[in-house]
Parts: sequence; structure tokens; C-alpha cells
Amino acid sequence: MLGSGVLYRGSRIVIASHNEGKVRELGELFEPYGITCVSAGSLGLPEPEETGDTFEANALLKAHASAKGSGMLALADDSGLEVEALSGDPGIHSARWGGPAKDFDLAMRKVHEALEATGGAFSRANFTCALALAAPNGDDIVFSGRVFGHIQWPPRGTRGFGYDPIFVPEDHQETFGEMDPALKNELSHRMRAFEQLMAATYAEDADPA
Ligand code: IMP
Repeated sequence: MLGSGVLYRGSRIVIASHNEGKVRELGELFEPYGITCVSAGSLGLPEPEETGDTFEANALLKAHASAKGSGMLALADDSGLEVEALSGDPGIHSARWGGPAKDFDLAMRKVHEALEATGGAFSRANFTCALALAAPNGDDIVFSGRVFGHIQWPPRGTRGFGYDPIFVPEDHQETFGEMDPALKNELSHRMRAFEQLMAATYAEDADPA
């Protein structure tokens, strides 16, 4: 298992994702710690098939593939929207609900239509994020975070990515799509997983040797 000091000021890591929204948000989280992120997409690393049946399993699968492919430490995010009235759907299939074109207007409409079919457009929901860090030698560590809220229809806001325009976090009125990105980063499922990861692995002045 990876532990304290594996990340330090000056670390360079691969973000095991081709999703620019995620790469940008993760880059912003790591930046204040002096950690530089390069994306798997920019290194030409392939995206493995997500065959796991949990967010954690899929994050580990992606992190290991990028760590092996790059010879560097790799961080993967597997995340999605879980809608209570839809028994947790779209869940680990959140990306797939957008179809091959990754059309999130379509994916958000599908959530709305599925909710209407249950007899109401309102539901509690949460975003979940699993963050896995893997080394080329096969060591790894994984954490997950959640943010709770509810589904909003029609979608509001053009910031963020994915399902952000239909998710209102608890104790707020704006959707993630309307919110200042700095506030989303403070509240988000990704931040909650990130804080645990940093507590377990970051030592600012660790000796990289
Ligand atoms: P993954 O690449 O399989 O982890 O796909 C996760 C999908 O969940 C993304 O493509 C988004 O649709 C959705 N998702 C995850 N995190 C967020 C978020 O912070 N905001 C909006 N949608 C998200």
C-alpha cells in the first residue's frame, strides 16, 4: 500500500483520464501542493475498459493501467451521479448515459425522464468520487468521497461539466453548473476524496530518493 511521503512538493503524476473537466479540476486541487499533473490523454495512454462494479474498483483499474503505461505514479478518478429514486442510477455508468458522443444534455434528460417515470421529477442524489493512486510496481491506495444534494430540472448553469447543471448540493441554491468553480471544489465529492488521499500520502518535504 502507498503511504506517507509518496507525494511531495515537486512530484509529477499522471492523471489517468481523457476527461478534460476532471483533469482540470484535479490539476487545480494538486497545484497548491506543488504537484504537477500530466494527463493520460496527452501522453497517448489508452483508456482501459471499466469492468469493475464499484467506483473504487474502476479507479484502481485506470490508475494501474496509466502507472504501468507511463512508469510514473498515476492518479485515477472514477465518479458519477447516484439518484436515490433511481436506485442509484446512473452510478458507475454515469459516463455511458451520455452515449458514444458523451452528450450530457442527453444524459441529463435521461435522468429527468427516468425520474418522471417513477412519478416525480425531484429526488435526493449524490455525487461519489473514488480516487486511486498507483505506482508502476503495483502498489496502490484508494479513497472515496460523497456530496449529497438533489436533482434540479430544468438544468441551470454552464460551468463545470457532466451532470453539474442538474445537481444542487445540500444547503445551497445554485447548481454545480452555476456555482463559482472554487466553491464547487470546496464542497465536492472529488475534494472529499482528495483530502483523505493527501492526508495519507503527502509529506511536503519528503525525500524523493
Ligand atoms: P468516469 O470517467 O467513468 O468516472 O465518468 C464519470 C462521469 O460522471 C462523468 O463523465 C460525468 O458525467 C459524471 N461526473 C463525475 N463527476 C462529476 C462532477 O463533478 N460533475 C458532474 N458530473 C460528474
